Amino acid sequence: MLYVGIDLGTSAVKLLLMDGEGNIKNIVSKEYPLYFPNPGWSEQKPEDWYEQSMAGMKELLDGFDKSQVAGISFGGQMHGLVILDKDDNVIRPALLWNDGRTFEECDYLNNVIGKEKLSEYTANISFTGFTAPKILWIKNKEPENFAKIAKIMLPKDYIAYKLTGVHCTDVSDASGMLIFDVKNRKWSKEMCDICGITEDQLATCYESYEAVGTVLPEIAAELGIPETVKVAAGAGDNAAAAVGTGTVGDGMCNISLGTSGTIFISSKNFGVDKYNALHSFAHADGSYHLMGCMLSAASCNKWWMDEIIGTKDYAAEQKAIDKLGENHVYFLPYLMGERSPHNNPNARGTFIGMTMDTTRADMTQAVLEGVAFALRDSFEVAKSLGIKIERTKICGGGAKSPLWKKMIANILNVKVDVIESEEGPALGGAMLAAVACGEYANVEEVAAKIVKVIDTVEPEAELVAKYEERYNQFKEIYPACKPLYEIIK
Ligand code: XUL
Repeated sequence: MLYVGIDLGTSAVKLLLMDGEGNIKNIVSKEYPLYFPNPGWSEQKPEDWYEQSMAGMKELLDGFDKSQVAGISFGGQMHGLVILDKDDNVIRPALLWNDGRTFEECDYLNNVIGKEKLSEYTANISFTGFTAPKILWIKNKEPENFAKIAKIMLPKDYIAYKLTGVHCTDVSDASGMLIFDVKNRKWSKEMCDICGITEDQLATCYESYEAVGTVLPEIAAELGIPETVKVAAGAGDNAAAAVGTGTVGDGMCNISLGTSGTIFISSKNFGVDKYNALHSFAHADGSYHLMGCMLSAASCNKWWMDEIIGTKDYAAEQKAIDKLGENHVYFLPYLMGERSPHNNPNARGTFIGMTMDTTRADMTQAVLEGVAFALRDSFEVAKSLGIKIERTKICGGGAKSPLWKKMIANILNVKVDVIESEEGPALGGAMLAAVACGEYANVEEVAAKIVKVIDTVEPEAELVAKYEERYNQFKEIYPACKPLYEIIK
């Protein structure tokens, strides 16, 4: 049988075709525009996601025996607010996970409702990218649109709806809405009241590996696949990536270097840290996880390469970097503000430490190192909770760079396990579809059978010591710049 995984990302949708043994048969990627209508705002059109997902699926299946397709599922960019009217039409462009406009609503949630209550109801506090503050923003700033809302959806769930006609979501993605009682895996009545919505405006919530239905007859006809093809709920992209890298069960770690950068720690048990510094979310394997999320990771390198120095040859630029641990230029990667651990939408990208002998390679190195140092900030929070992490998996576009993996191994002082496929969320989506179709008994089983570690990047004592010194300098820069970010906004 064949399974389709759809990774609905921020720069593109990536589609992956997998057979029942876990062999990847095809991968297709389709881009769509990202809109920044104001500084710190970030939007996309759900119609673009759907169009490109359908175009991508046709390309993906071209030349394969379509009668063998059994299941489809997803990993999707999290937290985005998609609002539909009573006829299921999209009311306005979606507000994305890296949109920073909701600072007033966050202030209201965290300081008027109060972090303690939010944590009690949802296991989390408010961040500008989360969905609840976005709903409040629409209520406050666009009351005419708020009045039209019949359904509130997350990005990948809009595609599932278009394929099946079912308004559904899954526990991992719902966790990032701040309307979901993570511990009990159900909607929070209290949070619905706070947001001024009712539970029937929300989608039905499934476990990630559960089928929500089958494809609509017109979709089956358009794609040339059987009407019996099951659509599984899928997961937020980080939980799906964790499935795709075998980060399931207890105490496993995955780092994702995509547009965002995340550290994901799986856990059999529900847990929240005292300051809610890490997100506490439901996992796609039926358990839980903790996560730190930085808003700009591989996107910092993309910005530096494409927009600033104007090259597409990332590998050539990285080849010129030969003095690891000795760079005195630093880069703070806060191009979209920052979530974990600073929770500051006003933070900005910052270079510091240049001298007349600074080279282009030093600046490129600073960008790559700055992302790794910022990941270490979240890693330190996890360590402070008593979590011991000796090794991690890695996925996402940035994971293709051997140099970046080496920096991460040495800056975090962890073993980095390289897996056969870095296609985390798309592969995870296909694996969830295979579980929903009964090809595997559960998520742990599919991960154990399919995910293969092919190499390990070991930290080197000398480099770890050099980077320890550099990190101690790096962590002084944000507190010093913080007051400036308030002035330059
Ligand atoms: C996670 C987060 C990002 C997006 C990126 O909390 O906001 O990782 O899911 O797609």
